[in-house]
Order: sequence, then C-alpha cells, then structure tokens
Amino acid sequence: MDNNFIPLRIAGVGYSVPKTVITNDDLTKLYETSDEWIYTRTGIKERRVVSGNETAIDLGLEAAKKAIEKAGINLDEIDCIIAASSVPPQLYPTLACTLQAKLGIKNTIPAFDMTAACTGLIYALQVARGLIGTGIYKNILIVAADNNSKITDWTDRGTSILFGDGAGAMVVTASEDGIDDILSLEISSNGAIGQMIRTNMPSECCPLVEQADEVGTGKIIMDGKEVYKFAVTTVPKYVEHCIELSGMKAEDINYLIPHQANQRIIEAIQNRLNYSDEKVISNIKYYGNTSAASIPIALAEGVEQGKIKLGSTAILCGFGAGMTWGGAVVRLREGIC
Ligand code: COA
Repeated sequence: MDNNFIPLRIAGVGYSVPKTVITNDDLTKLYETSDEWIYTRTGIKERRVVSGNETAIDLGLEAAKKAIEKAGINLDEIDCIIAASSVPPQLYPTLACTLQAKLGIKNTIPAFDMTAACTGLIYALQVARGLIGTGIYKNILIVAADNNSKITDWTDRGTSILFGDGAGAMVVTASEDGIDDILSLEISSNGAIGQMIRTNMPSECCPLVEQADEVGTGKIIMDGKEVYKFAVTTVPKYVEHCIELSGMKAEDINYLIPHQANQRIIEAIQNRLNYSDEKVISNIKYYGNTSAASIPIALAEGVEQGKIKLGSTAILCGFGAGMTWGGAVVRLREGIC
C-alpha cells in the first residue's frame, strides 16, 4: 500500500429488520414444502419481510441513523453516501439520494447506489476505502438495504424459501490515529457465469420495432444447485486468500462474519478455517438471506447479543449475483455498535 494512503476507521455500524415474520410453516400455505425440508437444506427457520408501504428505504434509514449515532458524527460531516442494494425499491431517484433527503442532510454531497448484490457491503467498503485513502472524502455513510420479498417469485419454492428483508449501515472515516481497520480487502467478479442468478427488469421495446422474445418479470430467477456449487468451491478458498493478504493467521482472527445465504455454505467456510461454532456468526435461521444487508446485520446483531466482543478482528466475506464475491479482514473497535 502507498505510504500516503490514509487509513480507514470503521466508526459505526447499525441494522434494521422489519417486524413481520414469515416462518417455514407459513410457507406451506403457498406451496408444498415443509419446515424440515427447508431447515435441513438451508438452516433457515424464518425470515422477515416488509409489508404495506414499508420498503428497504425505511430499513436503510433506521440502520443509517444507528450507525451515524454510534460514529458520533453530525449529519453535516458526512461527505458521501454509498447505498448497496441488489434491487432498490426505485432505480431512481437512487436509494442513496432518497436516504440523503430522509436523513435531512442539507449539504449537496454525492450520493449514489452501486449494485454488487450480496457482496454489496464489501464492494462499497472498497470504494469508500479508495475515496478516503486518497483524501477525497473523510466520512462516508454506507447503507446496504434490500427488500427481497418484493422481487421474490412467491410461487417458486426453490427461491422464495431463501430470502428475507433487512438493512445494515456502516460509517467509515479517515483514521485519526493512523491505525487502519482494514487489514486486507479484495473484491472479485466473473460475469461469464452471471446468469445463474438474475433479475430481469420488466421492459418492452419501442412499439415500432420487433419485440423481445422474453419479457422480464422483475423477479429473482436462480439455478440454486449451480449457485451452491459456485459458493462452496470459490468462497472458502477465497477467504483463506484474504486472510493470507492480511498477514494474519486464521487462528488469530476472532470471528468469521459471512454472508448468510445457506448454513451449509457457512459451514463449508467454517470447516476450511477449522473454526469452532463460537467464532462463526450465523443468524440465517431467523432472517434468511437479506442480500447486501446480511453481513452488517450479522455484525451489529452479533455485538448486541454478546456473540461478538469488540476490540477484536473478523473476516467478512460475501458472494452473490454477478457473480461477485469479496472478503475483508477488519478490526472491530470498541463502541462501533
Ligand atoms: N420444498 C420441498 N421440495 C422442494 C423445495 C421446497 N421448498 N424446493 C425444491 N424442492 C424439490 C425440487 O422440486 C426437487 O424435486 P425433484 O427432484 O422431484 O425435481 C428437489 O426438491 C430437489 O431440488 P433442488 O433444487 O435440486 O434442491 P437442492 O438440494 O439444490 O436445494 C437450494 C435447493 C435452493 C436450497 C440449494 O440449491 C441452495 O441453497 N442453493 C444456493 C442458493 C443461494 O445461496 N443463493 C443465493 C446466493 S447469494
């Protein structure tokens, strides 16, 4: 790393999930399935979903407020907002711009969305790191929010069992004490295998030209088996690689905070690292896969529940549509959530 690169501090983290719970038993009202089938294959018992007018915007707003409060900064000190959402409630105005307004940020700071699906938080962290590291901005608000329930095909039992809604937020800032909270961070993608999980937006061609054969539904389409194979072959190795980059040994890192896609995928990473259950943060049982939000939710809730002691280190890892994946070894300072 360039000697002039300004180190980054993770200053605050927050999360929010909707109140409405859908259990596996509830899903038996929609199609033939069972709690046993879903739980043994995925580790999921229930998920939270938005209802009525509630969207990822509301969840993102609550998570952002908590992260800002923990960071102890004023709204007018925020220099930039990056929102990571797989499918935001509106493509524009962006989630980030909407949050800028709802938070009451008067400064005309840049606010933009970026899509890296379930790897969104790690991608956003890398972008923020570049912007802070080069001295362009000092304080950046990252919000990862998804309302998957609105883009789920609720007749498809292969996908709708998996997803849930939620938001997580992180305030990152130029480190005043010279200590970098990012010990390593890498992001990757392979578009050549991207079609295994996709959402085609509803669209039609100009009426004066030939119409497309397939009209998008705006719903998640997934080849679950292929995604599963991709995850268990790519992610555990990658996590090891990110740990190597940090110069640390796996046993010296306190926690694994993985994207919550499937308990069996989490266990594949856990086995590779030879970690005990206490070191692995898993809340998939209660939330399912909340896409970009899953890592910050697991982090902030893990602290809240006493599973994560701060003043520690963790390996974060995400993977998802694109296909995208990423990992970061980070320092978790006291007081961040
Ligand atoms: N309840 C009962 N039966 C179901 C079912 C459900 N919810 N969903 C699928 N089935 C049936 C299928 O119809 C199929 O029946 P058939 O053999 O008669 O055709 C059988 O169960 C096996 O289906 P399959 O899709 O092969 O199951 P699987 O073992 O691959 O498990 C997933 C499905 C989705 C749980 C698994 O593939 C997975 O978790 N993949 C990863 C997905 C993921 O993490 N995506 C997000 C990445 S960010």
